[in-house]
Amino acid sequence: MKERILEKSEAMWKDALRYIPWGTNLLSRHPLRFVNGVFPKFAARAKGCLLWDIDGNQYIDFVMGHGPFLLGYADDAVDNAVIDHIRNGTVYTFAHPLETIVSKMLVDTIPCAEMARFAKTGGEATAIAIRIARGYTRKDKIVFCGYHGWHDWYLSANLADPTALNFSLSPHISARGVPKALSGTSIPFEYNNIDSLQKALQANKDEVAAVIMEPCRGWLPEKGFLEKVRELTHEENVLLIFDEIVTGFRLSFGGAQEYYKVTPDIAVFGKAMANGYPQAAILGRRDFMECVTDMFVSSMFWGDTIGLIATKTCINEIKSRNTIENVWKKGAFYQKNINTIAQKYKVPFRLRGLPPVSYLEFSHENPNVARELKLLFMQEMVERGFIMGDLIYFCEAHTDSVIQDCLSSAEEVISILSEALKNGDLSKRLKNRGYMEGFRRMV
Ligand SMILES: Cc1ncc(COP(=O)(O)O)c(C=O)c1O
Repeated sequence: MKERILEKSEAMWKDALRYIPWGTNLLSRHPLRFVNGVFPKFAARAKGCLLWDIDGNQYIDFVMGHGPFLLGYADDAVDNAVIDHIRNGTVYTFAHPLETIVSKMLVDTIPCAEMARFAKTGGEATAIAIRIARGYTRKDKIVFCGYHGWHDWYLSANLADPTALNFSLSPHISARGVPKALSGTSIPFEYNNIDSLQKALQANKDEVAAVIMEPCRGWLPEKGFLEKVRELTHEENVLLIFDEIVTGFRLSFGGAQEYYKVTPDIAVFGKAMANGYPQAAILGRRDFMECVTDMFVSSMFWGDTIGLIATKTCINEIKSRNTIENVWKKGAFYQKNINTIAQKYKVPFRLRGLPPVSYLEFSHENPNVARELKLLFMQEMVERGFIMGDLIYFCEAHTDSVIQDCLSSAEEVISILSEALKNGDLSKRLKNRGYMEGFRRMV
């Protein structure tokens, strides 16, 4: 283990707290989501699967910026296309052909897509999809399952019931600032529980515009579940929206809808589509999408060409490099091997979910022990040079030898966890100061 100094990270965090409420703009990047004082707080640069912090320490990253990379950080093909493109401008007085070219590429790729609209973030894309569903059906209520961003339509779920978002997002989510008039307009249902969806639809009969859900993520759909959701939404005359911000491209080219062969009415894609450049898309059947022409859905940077040239290049690269299949293989190999190691050392740990994006799960009857096990795992891994968080995002740049090295270190660390469990000295081994619970994620 190399001795690391994190002086610059710690000093800059003091400044960050002074100038930025919360210190950062994304919950998942908050130092309390890692092992505070042991993980770096600021990145300086990254390439492939390597990341350097501002103190100059080098790591192999398995969190990968929280999901936007399939090819790896700073991929030459995508970056060179962007650099060449921006010499001729980025946004213009008129539309740029890339808007049409990339729309066509997505329509040709994604089963539900007959038309496309663009946005920059996942939250924006889901808000647009919800607006379209409400506009098309002329109904207001939304039934949801999963995480869908920070907008009013979603957080309003916690107005009527302050625990509504506990399992889709996290406990302690405040709906402060969300208009009280939205109370009762967004209603959660449980993943893999068709009765809970049925109940939500019956209790709000003829008022629901759409069901929006993450088709899968940390949990996989039980046999027939997605098909039943599709059937029920048809029967109730409700649009079905798949939030494929995470599953899009990562799971299969056409997303979970292609993988599970269940086609929603509308889908939103984001994260991995542009290999790290901000880009999201709303896609759907022509009659739903055309509804936008009778609404106001418009923004300056949605037609920005940096994200579009990155998307175009990224899609071509993923295809020619067979990236999705490679990432599946890497993730499946890692999952299988780390789970075998955990069993060997009798540590209550498993990596679950879809191989391209897997969940680190420690289970114990005492939730504090489960949390401490996870933190000790993360602490010992980062001290060995591997960044790991609740979610592990695999990318093409995780070579076989990187994965093998990571498994060797994981075995060392899991044996430490096993010893700590036996000795009952987990807390003593932890160097962290404070922890903030992240997304529980029901899906
Ligand atoms: C499924 C899902 N939907 C929506 C979002 C929100 O995306 P963004 O953070 O880009 O607004 C996320 C972000 O992680 C997500 O995982």
